[in-house]
Amino acid sequence: RQPTDSPLYALLTAASDYYRHALKQHPTRKSAVEYLKGRGLTGEIARDFGLGFAPPGWDNLLKHMGGDSLQQKHMIDAGLLIENADTGKRYDRFRDRVMFPIRDSRGRIIAFGGRVLGDDKPKYLNSPETPVFHKGQELYGLFEARKHNRNLDEIMVVEGYMDVIALAQQGLRNAVATLGTATSEEHIRRLFRLVPNILFCFDGDQAGRKAAWRALEATLPGLEDGRRARFLFLPEGEDPDSLVRKEGTDAFRARITQHAQPLADYFFQQLTQEADPTSLEGKAHLATLAAPLIERIPGANLKVLMRQRLAEITGLNGEALGQFARSAAPSV
Ligand code: UTP
Ligand code: MN
Ligand code: MN
Ligand code: MN
Ligand code: MN
Repeated sequence: RQPTDSPLYALLTAASDYYRHALKQHPTRKSAVEYLKGRGLTGEIARDFGLGFAPPGWDNLLKHMGGDSLQQKHMIDAGLLIENADTGKRYDRFRDRVMFPIRDSRGRIIAFGGRVLGDDKPKYLNSPETPVFHKGQELYGLFEARKHNRNLDEIMVVEGYMDVIALAQQGLRNAVATLGTATSEEHIRRLFRLVPNILFCFDGDQAGRKAAWRALEATLPGLEDGRRARFLFLPEGEDPDSLVRKEGTDAFRARITQHAQPLADYFFQQLTQEADPTSLEGKAHLATLAAPLIERIPGANLKVLMRQRLAEITGLNGEALGQFARSAAPSV
């Protein structure tokens, strides 16, 4: 699906080498080093994730890489340089930012995220879609997590770069991030090829809760019997990074054990909030919401069990629910 021999890979690797070197050597590196320390990261974890620094200025990388016009064209294609449409002038995309290299599952660097050192907006700048980077398919941290442990039993899906890295810093090295895009069915297919269990842990805010429901919808078609997805909802205002640093690894692990909610529980809890199951009208509404979603589950046993639960809640007959769902407008 991707050109394995693309010239972009070598340029992305060279850029990453430059950014890593700049974090160690560049005269202006201090603010970036302080920033990372301030977020609780050690040099070891920074090394594990290949963190770097894009110094301030318009052409640090451009000058460092030099290169002929064709190479610069490739650097534009790789998302490293931007060309001004009017003047034709080329300049660095990433300036004055902490740099997070994004690797594909084989470990090749395919893109970057860059964070401002303060509160400026936008907080993160990411590589655009390129011939080697398809945002909706990649999971930040997956290569690093697998490198650490080839036999993971569960992967935790979080929202951000810093969530992945802060969790790793605290010894929880099984987190990956979707990079500001919704969890996709492609993401889920990839994960379930590697592990039987997925734990979603998004930010404790409105956006995070919305992301959780989207993740549930993307997960349904991957739920063969024997696979499991759970959801851990965080206190309002916290994200995995802030919480694990606040309460520590053991408390965070205990929180997972005690509060991670199985997908089916979250499913019915959410839908019974949307459709009040104490009235007949509410029950009818609930059935129209839930039944088509349940039909998307490939696992025959889980599907039957969830139909039964829906039947218990609504008083509708399970057989009728199945028929209704199959005849309902295909919402897939
Ligand atoms: P958040 O807004 O939750 O940021 O976005 P964060 O990861 O907690 O950021 P910190 O802790 O302040 O560093 C979650 C993810 O959404 C993407 C990034 O991948 C980010 O990690 N995002 C967010 C962007 O791409 N651009 C943005 O401006 C903000
Ligand atoms: Mn890929
Ligand atoms: Mn957020
Ligand atoms: Mn955060
Ligand atoms: Mn966050």
